[in-house]
Amino acid sequence: MNSLWESIKDYIRNINFIRHIYKILTGWLGFMYDYKRFLVYGGWPKNINDIERRNYQQVYCYHRLEKSLSFKNRNPNSGWRDVHELLNLLNIAKQSGSIGYHDKASKQILEKFIALPENINLEQSQQLKAELKKFDFNSNDNHGAMEYSLSDFNRGKLEQPEDFFLTRYSLREFQDKGVSDEMIHRAIKLAMKTPSVCNRQAWHIYHTRDKEVKNSVLRYQNGNRSFGENIPNLLIVTTDLKGFFSAPERYQHWIDGGLLSMSIMYAFHALGIATCALNWSQSPKNDKLLRSLVKIKPNHTIIMILAIGYPDKTNKVCVSARRPFEEIYSTLEKRE
Ligand SMILES: Cc1cc2nc3c(=O)[nH]c(=O)nc-3n(C[C@H](O)[C@H](O)[C@H](O)COP(=O)(O)O)c2cc1C
Repeated sequence: MNSLWESIKDYIRNINFIRHIYKILTGWLGFMYDYKRFLVYGGWPKNINDIERRNYQQVYCYHRLEKSLSFKNRNPNSGWRDVHELLNLLNIAKQSGSIGYHDKASKQILEKFIALPENINLEQSQQLKAELKKFDFNSNDNHGAMEYSLSDFNRGKLEQPEDFFLTRYSLREFQDKGVSDEMIHRAIKLAMKTPSVCNRQAWHIYHTRDKEVKNSVLRYQNGNRSFGENIPNLLIVTTDLKGFFSAPERYQHWIDGGLLSMSIMYAFHALGIATCALNWSQSPKNDKLLRSLVKIKPNHTIIMILAIGYPDKTNKVCVSARRPFEEIYSTLEKRE
C-alpha cells in the first residue's frame, strides 16, 4: 500500500516535472521566435535605401533637433551631428526620387535650426542654407518647436476625470450595428497623439468588418469564446520592427504598441464607442498561422486585437474591481 502511494506520488512529481520542462521549452521557443523576428525585420541593418527604414532614421534625427529647438536654455553647440545626418538622408531621398512627409519635415526643421540667433551667422549655416535650396519641396505642417502656454495645457483638464476614466469597461456584446470608417479613423487619429520613443510612431493598424476575415483573425485568439461571432469591427494593433534600431530597444515595440492600444480604447470611449482588448499572447505557431490567413506585413508585430462596437441601451459587464491602491504603490527609497 505504502509503495503504491509512493509510486503515485512519483508519477505526479514526474508529470509536474514534465509540465515544468514544457513551460521552459515553450518559453524559450517564444523568446527565440521574437529574437529571430527582431534580427530579421528590425531596423538595425542601416538599410537607408529602404524608405520606411530611412523615414524612421529621419524622425529619430529631426526629433533630436526639435528637442534642441524647444529648450529655453539650449546648448548653442548642440545638434550639428544630426544636421549632417539629416542632410545626408535628404540627399539620398532626392537621389531616389521618393520625397515624402519626413523629407519635408526634415527640411523645415533644418531651416529653423539654422535660423536660430546663435546659428544664423555661422559659416556652416550659410553652407547648409545653400544646400537646402536644392530641395524644391516644402511641408504644409508645422515642425520644430512652438509656444505652449499654460492655458493651452489647461484645455486638456477634465472637470470630473472620474466620469471619463471610470466609465470605460470592456464590452463584449455590442449593438448589431457596425462602426463607420469615419469614426474608426477619427479614433485612430486621436490616438496617434500617443507618445512614442523619439516620436517614431512605428505603428500600423489593420481594420476589418468582413465576417470571413474576422473569423480568421479570431480563430487562433483564445479569449473570444461565446462573443467573437458578433463583434462588429475588429482592429489589429501592430508595431513596425523596422522602427527599432538597437539591442536596448528590443522591447520598445511592445511598449509603444501597448501605449497606442490604450489610447485607441480611450479615444473610442470618448466618442461613445465601446471596445474590448483581445490578447495576442500567442505561441509562434499560432502567430504564423494567423499570418498565413490574413495579410499582415512580416515586420509588423501583433500587439493586440481590439473588438469595437456600440453599446446597447442596457449592457452587462464584468465589475473587474481594481486592487487596493497600496498594493501597487510605494515611495521609491535609496538603498543604504
Ligand atoms: C492586453 C489585454 C488583453 C485582453 N484580452 C482579453 C481577451 O482575450 N478576452 C477578453 O474577454 N478580455 C480581454 N481583456 C480584457 C480584460 O479582461 C479587462 O480589461 C479587465 O478585466 C479589466 O476590465 P475593464 O476593461 O472592464 O476595466 C484584455 C485586456 C487587455 C489589456
